[in-house]
Amino acid sequence: MSPRSILSIGLAIQTVSIHAAAYCLAGQACFPSDDVLATFEQSLGGNLIKTLPYGSACYSATYNAEECLKLANQSQTFDFRESQAAAVMYINNEITKDGEGCPVPITTADGSPPAAINGSCTLGNMPSYVVNVTCAHDVSLAVKFAAAHNLRLRIKNSGHDYAGRSAGKGALSIWTRHLNEAVLIEDFSPEGVHGYSTDVVSAGPGVNVEELNQWGADNARVTIGGYTPSVGATGGYLLGGGFGPTAPHFGMGVDNVVQFEVITADGDIKIANSAKNQDLFWALRGGGGAFGVVTHVWLKAYPALAAVNTVAGPVVCQDRASYEQMINTLIDLQVPLNDAGHSVSQIWIGHNQCAIHSNYC
Ligand SMILES: *[C@@H]1O[C@H](CO)[C@@H](O)[C@H](O)[C@H]1NC(C)=O
Ligand SMILES: *[C@@H]1O[C@H](CO)[C@@H](O)[C@H](O)[C@H]1NC(C)=O
Ligand SMILES: *[C@@H]1O[C@H](CO)[C@@H](O)[C@H](O)[C@H]1NC(C)=O
Repeated sequence: MSPRSILSIGLAIQTVSIHAAAYCLAGQACFPSDDVLATFEQSLGGNLIKTLPYGSACYSATYNAEECLKLANQSQTFDFRESQAAAVMYINNEITKDGEGCPVPITTADGSPPAAINGSCTLGNMPSYVVNVTCAHDVSLAVKFAAAHNLRLRIKNSGHDYAGRSAGKGALSIWTRHLNEAVLIEDFSPEGVHGYSTDVVSAGPGVNVEELNQWGADNARVTIGGYTPSVGATGGYLLGGGFGPTAPHFGMGVDNVVQFEVITADGDIKIANSAKNQDLFWALRGGGGAFGVVTHVWLKAYPALAAVNTVAGPVVCQDRASYEQMINTLIDLQVPLNDAGHSVSQIWIGHNQCAIHSNYC
């Protein structure tokens, strides 16, 4: 093969991939018509949300002082952000790189309603339609619909992601947050697996860390999970690997999954475990969410620990020596405390980089 034909194959492949990435976004002529969307909504039992920017009460065209005050008060809380169909945990991810969006002002010093903002309020980087899923079948329908119409598809649980991967302008979003039931199953055997069973928490993909910890307290069990209450413990956290307070005891999140239910790009509902769809099972455990939409997980559950001790947050050090001494003490305590049934985990060093990278702090 001549270098020229190799080059032309390269160009052909590049052209195809650029074409494939051009999704059809809401507002464009290629986007499904209202009639097509209405039929889709019907197939979902009505669970399709046409989104609106949640901050509109603070903008002059639609200003409502009381609503705006409430928004200013709440809009930065985890609970509020998780409860919105079209919001993510970090506000910067809601705004496009051109500054489009609908940010809510912060509270005023005297507690009065913030003044109306004269700028425009748009969805910005938020999806235009959200499937508020109630079961795996809804997810299957959404995946097929997105494929049939070449839509930008986004998947969100709580929206807790520093990279904003659950956001997407003009997208159709699959919102798993309300699939947040969690139940204990004792002696669970993954489908098709013989001679192995374990206690598990059988959970939907919308369970956050706060809910998983509550489930543990209610059932005298413990499992994995991140640090922040709003982390999607059975969603993106798990698919990305999953580090958290009990990792020194039980390993990473992915080490503790014994089975997934997952919808692949063809819309099929599949079980993935060590006996069925093993390649998918392997890829989902750390693959970052690119291989399917998880609709259920079965995670190992352990008897409750005596305690979970976490030291987190900024530590102000007097000098490098005392900082090193503190770290050494924490490391030395790890083994005896683990032996006593405690799980001792990381400290966050983000605020102490001076101590490890230089000689002063
Ligand atoms: C806003 O928060 C303040 C202080 O927490 C509270 O007094 C006030 O009632 C809140 N207002 C609204 C509208 O939620
Ligand atoms: C918005 O415009 C009105 C009228 O032009 C003005 O009175 C008001 O101060 C402006 N608000 C802000 C927050 O700039
Ligand atoms: C989404 O569905 C849940 C029930 O699954 C419901 O409680 C909630 O109000 C719905 N949210 C919206 C914004 O429609």
